[in-house]
Amino acid sequence: MQSSLISILSSLLLVSALPGPNVQQGCRQLAARFPTLTFTPGTTEYNTQIINVWSQTCIIEPYCVFEPETAQQVASALGIFTATNTKFAVRSGGHMPVPGANSIADGVLVSLNRMTAKSLSRDKKVASLGPGLRWAPVYEWLYSQGVLVNGGRFSDVGVGGILLGGGLNFWGSQYGWSSSNVRNFQVALANGQLVEANANGPYSDLFWALKGGSSNFGIVTRFDVNTFTIGPITGGLIQYPYSPENHQSWVDAVAHYVEPTGGSSDVRASMNPVTVVTPSLGEVTVIGSWFSYNGAETAPAAFENFTSMDALFNTMRVSTEYSDFQSHFDLPDILDRSNRHLFSVTAMKAKAESVYLANPIFLEHAFEKLKNVPNCTTSINYALVTQNWLAASRRAGGDSIDLDPAKGGFVQMSIESIWEDEKYDAQVNQYSRELIAAFDKASKAAGLHYPFTYINEAGTSQTPFSTYGDGKSLGRLRNIAHKYDPNGVFQKLVPGGFKVSVG
Ligand SMILES: Cc1cc2nc3c(=O)[nH]c(=O)nc-3n(C[C@H](O)[C@H](O)[C@H](O)COP(=O)(O)OP(=O)(O)OC[C@H]3O[C@@H](n4cnc5c(N)ncnc54)[C@H](O)[C@@H]3O)c2cc1C
Ligand SMILES: *[C@@H]1O[C@H](CO)[C@@H](O)[C@H](O)[C@H]1NC(C)=O
Ligand SMILES: *[C@@H]1O[C@H](CO)[C@@H](O)[C@H](O)[C@H]1NC(C)=O
Repeated sequence: MQSSLISILSSLLLVSALPGPNVQQGCRQLAARFPTLTFTPGTTEYNTQIINVWSQTCIIEPYCVFEPETAQQVASALGIFTATNTKFAVRSGGHMPVPGANSIADGVLVSLNRMTAKSLSRDKKVASLGPGLRWAPVYEWLYSQGVLVNGGRFSDVGVGGILLGGGLNFWGSQYGWSSSNVRNFQVALANGQLVEANANGPYSDLFWALKGGSSNFGIVTRFDVNTFTIGPITGGLIQYPYSPENHQSWVDAVAHYVEPTGGSSDVRASMNPVTVVTPSLGEVTVIGSWFSYNGAETAPAAFENFTSMDALFNTMRVSTEYSDFQSHFDLPDILDRSNRHLFSVTAMKAKAESVYLANPIFLEHAFEKLKNVPNCTTSINYALVTQNWLAASRRAGGDSIDLDPAKGGFVQMSIESIWEDEKYDAQVNQYSRELIAAFDKASKAAGLHYPFTYINEAGTSQTPFSTYGDGKSLGRLRNIAHKYDPNGVFQKLVPGGFKVSVG
């Protein structure tokens, strides 16, 4: 009885894993039109691409891989996908640790990795970036010319995911979300049309939607981003030896920093604090913070409560070469792609009480819920978005994330878990969901809740779009998606990632 049930189940699974006639046709047409850009299983290029993701949970084998080199090729491919009803996934840097967001079984993986063109306007005010770029080459190239753009902090992350999702960056209190600084998107729509979406042209609604709207509206083939001028910058990582007393001093420093009157009131400062727990050892294994400062300041007053503690090491220094500044952030374990990863996130008001509330909830869940998971770590990162940051985003032109600076800033509890064995996937997912629910329950009870879910740090089951604009953006996002994509290609044929049709 049991064995026949298993064989029925496994034959059902087998049937659903077989490629449908649509994707076979889609890949055949792609290969006929673009024989040197379409790759099937068994080819070296296919094998290279499928593993080119940051989390092992995202290695999903597509029916074929398409690697366009031009915007026109992207637009033609969209014509083939809609005509043949072929499912597909779009990938820029492949860092979103959400299975299905950047690959697809029984569909086509559109990997933008060859679209790495970049150019700077003659007056250096606008940088044009291909969607296959990572931040490292962008930052080095711009900084050597005295300008920068807001992107991601860790430089291996893709330009695409950041500029379509917000962007936690170094210079946010001065210039806002990375995506708010995009001034024009070149985008291939579901009908195969290639359009320029900006504030003034006929696609201004699409322009607004794309600044936060992820993969719901089209495939972006070029980002034109406003730059800002910049000189020497200060960066560093400080790690502290763990002791309960040190941990308490560090939590105090974080709590005071996030207050509107604390270190974060200096718009040139940004700080990214993290606590890492290894549940199987029952230990806090790392406490530390990354710092950045727009200026040549070896000891910015904004960081006084961190620099006055006894450190294990402190790499803070002034840089005039971008790679020197970036080296504090790009540590080997951050670049490591050999593990399974999961993000999840929630937010609370930018108040000391929020940090004091969250820290024990995190520790309790981490130690209790994951202690049987071998080689697993879980961390909390207090990612701050200040009131100045939200005001700067509006000044830059606004976005569909659209959070009101008058309501103050917020501190995000960004949880990242890392583990090795697939058999613990469900357990780690459950821990994350329970932890976020515990944070939200406690913060609501304490009047500290801030209703925002950042798409780029969200877990699979979270619904970021319903939190945009305090709930007011989602209806508009859906209307705009319907206007430019009436058949719902980017909702149905692109099933992975975060969808406005779901919220
Ligand atoms: C090590 C690491 C460090 C990180 N650091 C930061 C940080 O400092 N700041 C921050 O804000 N976030 C950070 N993140 C989170 C990161 O922003 C998200 O994972 C982001 O989605 C990654 O972008 P990507 O292009 O690499 O990912 P991808 O997985 O390739 O793309 C993410 C989503 O965007 C869609 N997409 C990408 N490009 C396009 C396009 N051109 N057109 C249409 N849709 C597109 C994809 O379909 C996918 O659904 C980090 C993540 C990791 C793993
Ligand atoms: C440092 O901590 C004290 C409380 O101990 C706080 O009043 C002060 O604002 C903090 N300084 C900064 C720059 O965050
Ligand atoms: C944990 O990691 C170590 C060293 O990386 C490895 O030897 C070991 O097999 C891993 N354990 C498990 C249970 O995965």
